[in-house]
Amino acid sequence: MRNKKYIAPSLLSANFLHLEQEIKDVEKAGADILHLDIMDGHFVPNMTFGPFIVEQIKSAASVPLDVHLMIEEPQRWIETYIEAGADFLTVHFETDPHLNRAINEIKKRGRKAGVSINPSTHPLLLEYVLEYVDLVLVMSVNPGFGGQRFIENSFRKIEWLNNYRENHLLNFLIEVDGGVNENNIKALSDAGVDIFVAGSAIFSKDDYGEVIRRMRERL
Ligand code: DX5
Ligand code: ZN
Repeated sequence: MRNKKYIAPSLLSANFLHLEQEIKDVEKAGADILHLDIMDGHFVPNMTFGPFIVEQIKSAASVPLDVHLMIEEPQRWIETYIEAGADFLTVHFETDPHLNRAINEIKKRGRKAGVSINPSTHPLLLEYVLEYVDLVLVMSVNPGFGGQRFIENSFRKIEWLNNYRENHLLNFLIEVDGGVNENNIKALSDAGVDIFVAGSAIFSKDDYGEVIRRMRERL
């Protein structure tokens, strides 16, 4: 999947009263992937939705679903979210002492396995899973809310991962999540990002197609 750049709108910033229409609009606007944030009120100070809503979203979506688990004990939920329709399933390094097992379980079921790190976590801690994962999600804000400001040293982290990937001839995708917008997308792409999650930058505008087109032009 490398050599292509993917724009993944985060539904966290969509209007949930019109979710089906939002999905159709953002897909028509050029979304490559839909990013779904699952929060449990424990690992992060916010709550969103669970597998039942993911299943509903799956039935309305025609692009792959990228499910980002910001929950404690994610291993208990892997099967459920896969059945609900996750194509990419990402667990946080900080929530699972058995990351290797979680990755194997996701891959065994034929889905793309991701690991995510918080802004204060060094990517070096992922060294012994990088050869197994399909995706590394770099949180560039503290997880929990949309509309926060991008943390600048995320660039260093992305560059570190990109270098590691080159030096070890690995193929995992690098995804960035939080504070991504038209102004920083080019630099992020140059640093090695493959998947760009953007919530408020897209859904706060009236014309999603226009924002996504401008983002893509800069890649
Ligand atoms: C934050 C979530 C993000 C969020 C990003 O915890 O993981 O996916 O929706 O929102 P923006 O793009 O507005 O920073
Ligand atoms: Zn997310």
